[in-house]
Amino acid sequence: MTTTATERPVEQADRIDEMDFRNVMGHLPTGVVAVTGIEASSAQPVGMVVGTFASLSLDPQLVTFSVARTSSSWLKVRSGGRFSASMLAEGQDAVCRSLSRKGDDKFSDVDWHSSPDGAPRIGGAVAWIDCEFLQELDGGDHVIVIARVLRMATAPGAPLVFHKGRLGGYRDALAAA
Ligand SMILES: Cc1cc2nc3c(=O)[nH]c(=O)nc-3n(C[C@H](O)[C@H](O)[C@H](O)COP(=O)(O)O)c2cc1C
Repeated sequence: MTTTATERPVEQADRIDEMDFRNVMGHLPTGVVAVTGIEASSAQPVGMVVGTFASLSLDPQLVTFSVARTSSSWLKVRSGGRFSASMLAEGQDAVCRSLSRKGDDKFSDVDWHSSPDGAPRIGGAVAWIDCEFLQELDGGDHVIVIARVLRMATAPGAPLVFHKGRLGGYRDALAAA
């Protein structure tokens, strides 16, 4: 493996340190997606942010993301059966912070409108995917969620990017390269 002066080889045979794992994975930029629904018991909007959202299958049309087993928000979103995935736009850092904090009142400062199923779609996002929960698979300390795509929509704009522990746009990710 070639390393530069600022790089540290991460090659432990037994167990890689968790922070090393996070730091190395941080080199891969991800989109920032709000997964939001209506909790069945309270009828309140609920949600969280994931950086693990991806397409899984074209036929049938499926998407996937992974959720920490400790997440309370995912259980609330899942309870509604149907939810929306909003791909956040560059500049929506505050929306990301609101939806990724712990607690109940995540939507007080967040602009949203309802999908045809009633799930919150985040205003100003660059794309929305309305989903139906299908199943969870074991993913270590996470669960791998699989959901069916119900409908999709897009809007002009550039996506929010998470890279090396920071939120920004494509230009910021390039500048940090
Ligand atoms: C950029 C970003 C990406 C994230 N990606 C994930 C993810 O893929 N899976 C996950 O479980 N949590 C992820 N989180 C953390 C959750 O959004 C959130 O902090 C957590 O679910 C809040 O706890 P709660 O679910 O108990 O409300 C991410 C947070 C940020 C800011």
